Amino acid sequence: MEAQPKRKLFSAVQPSGAVTIGNYIGAIRNFAALQDEYACLYAVADLHAITVKQEPAALRRHTLELLALFIACGVDPEKCTLFVQSHVPAHCELTWVLNTIAYPGELSRMTQFKDKSARHADNVNMGLMDHPVLMAADILLYQAALVPVGADQKQHLELTRDLGIRFNNRYGATFTIPEPFTPKSTARIMSLADPTKKMSKSDENPNGFVTLDDDRDTILRKFQRAVTDSGAEVRYDTEEKPGVSNLLSIYCAFTGKTIEGAERDFAGKGYGEFKLAVGEVVADALAPIRAEHGRLLADKAYLNGVMKRGAEAAARIAYRTLAKVYRKVGFYAGE
Ligand code: TRP
Repeated sequence: MEAQPKRKLFSAVQPSGAVTIGNYIGAIRNFAALQDEYACLYAVADLHAITVKQEPAALRRHTLELLALFIACGVDPEKCTLFVQSHVPAHCELTWVLNTIAYPGELSRMTQFKDKSARHADNVNMGLMDHPVLMAADILLYQAALVPVGADQKQHLELTRDLGIRFNNRYGATFTIPEPFTPKSTARIMSLADPTKKMSKSDENPNGFVTLDDDRDTILRKFQRAVTDSGAEVRYDTEEKPGVSNLLSIYCAFTGKTIEGAERDFAGKGYGEFKLAVGEVVADALAPIRAEHGRLLADKAYLNGVMKRGAEAAARIAYRTLAKVYRKVGFYAGE
């Protein structure tokens, strides 16, 4: 019997600098776990990154760093298609076609567009508004059935589905309509400095976030400074104890323990001891990733090879879809 082809899964991360443990738990860590079950394509979304101002040299460096980080976190380039978005021009080409069926009304209503327009008021550009159409092109090009997305990208995936359906209705069946894929661990990691806000590397207080390239001492120090709550009991209660609850979630995400198990570990113990233990668990888990990341970044030839092979493999799929799209919309292809 012939084996069923694996379902395609697509995801991408923007190379916008440091990656926090929130991004790691919510996205990158899961990527490796999916690679045996699905035909995974993972992209470094550099085309998306320039919708906000980037320093060109930094963008170049962050692109290579993110590609290496995927691998350091267990993404195997022999099993997945790992590539840089701008290396496959079909992403832009399909975006153009999709733009002709996307409405400014629906794009200007996107929550992320509104947030980013407010945060980058001096640079509200067309690319920022078109960000979700480019994301739709990323996904639809590969006929991806599944897209792992966090809460902040749900609305964009919904738009991807709308555009895919709209195109299929107008021109005939062309695109697979993707489904959101919700990973098992959905812990939302909050800021260590203000546990009512999501952990973000754009936090002006660097003690609020931990990144994958923080060293052990930095990690321990940030956890020691983490905001806790009044009282002295280590108990999960997001209303009364958002700080302690966030630390418990982080502890569980890095140990695989349940909340009850974690509460038992710290029964009768003080906040100081608790915070040190969470910091140690995180530092221990990140140490091998950091070491591997450093090792990979020293081998640029290897990374360049990975991205070249990835782009070639991605382009083979992407251009099959794009040819179909061009035919359906009526572009004359010569004889
Ligand atoms: N838009 C996503 C973000 O801002 C990144 C991204 C680009 C993406 N293309 C994608 C995510 C396709 C999932 C699928 O974080």
